[in-house]
Amino acid sequence: MKSEILGTIDQLLTQGDVMLRQQLRDFETHLAEFVDTKYAIGVSNCTDGLHLCLRAAGVGAGDEVVTVSHTFVATAAAIHHAGASSVLVDIGEDHNMDISLIEAAITPRTKAIIPVHLNGRVCEMDKLMAIAHRHNLIVIEDAAQALGATHNGVKAGAFGLAGCFSFYPAKLLGAYGDAGAVVTNSKEMADKIFLLRNHGRTETNDIAGWSFNCRMDNLHAAILDLKLKYVPEWIQRRREIAKIYHELLNDLSEVILPPPPDEDSAHFDVFQNYEIEAEKRDGLFEYLKGRGIETLISWGGKGVHQFPALGLSHFTLPRTEQMFRKVLMLPMNADLTDDQVEYTANCVRKFYGY
Ligand SMILES: Cc1ncc(COP(=O)(O)O)c(C=O)c1O
Repeated sequence: MKSEILGTIDQLLTQGDVMLRQQLRDFETHLAEFVDTKYAIGVSNCTDGLHLCLRAAGVGAGDEVVTVSHTFVATAAAIHHAGASSVLVDIGEDHNMDISLIEAAITPRTKAIIPVHLNGRVCEMDKLMAIAHRHNLIVIEDAAQALGATHNGVKAGAFGLAGCFSFYPAKLLGAYGDAGAVVTNSKEMADKIFLLRNHGRTETNDIAGWSFNCRMDNLHAAILDLKLKYVPEWIQRRREIAKIYHELLNDLSEVILPPPPDEDSAHFDVFQNYEIEAEKRDGLFEYLKGRGIETLISWGGKGVHQFPALGLSHFTLPRTEQMFRKVLMLPMNADLTDDQVEYTANCVRKFYGY
């Protein structure tokens, strides 16, 4: 894509189209079409998107927001910066929020739920939305890792009042710097986010209120718009890779794998990451490194509540804690060849003596 991307950059810089121009509007239109929502608003990054959504939805001081600890600190940071507090619930087998634990976490102060669709798999959103309706709670989806993933045919980001995506370079759709987006079917939310991302400035140059600078750069928007059309084939390739990993590692008792791509018809996972749980994880990490294979231990092997500086250490989440002791992400990228995936899987097998 190099010449296509450099051609776009050249054109934009020649025209001087750097901020809030047509390319951003085009990307927003195409993203909303892709996710199947009425509106998409480009923002500076997903963290800012979540923060603005909480504010736009009226979540603030004194409110509680139910979310997970198995997420990037960004989710809890957005809640904190909106003035609310995180209430963390444990995860289930698929490493996403255990929906059956939500109701016990609800208090009179609970205002919202932020489900996090981790690793490219959508949470059990039908059940979650039913709970939210029952308790009159706002749902903002952290869909940073789940562009294109579906649950019962509905795309990540399209279930709740709003959903937020990250286009951090390592994401399935990556910019060359920070970028993110909010999607929503609510005109009221969309109007508020458009204002909140740009100093509260209206089309008539009025200022609607105190606000923020969370714009998406036009250059990123143009490149993301160009890349968006490749996303379906990249997802297909990631699913193929996940299938190869599953076929080659499924018989190992020492590892727990994510659900394979075609396990159930309700989920269409996009495999932003291939996150496994592995016995002797640190040894496996070093063994693979010594064979030229870079793996990642998600967020340094700690959930959000395990960073004392965040003040969330009072939560006890056994499943999350156990998972973080074993978690490892195997290489996952649409550019990997079958040989590379097989090489990784075979090295994992050898490490355990198969
Ligand atoms: C689950 C999750 N939430 C939020 C974010 C924050 O996204 P950004 O870096 O675009 O602010 C990330 C990014 O890594 C993420 O993985």
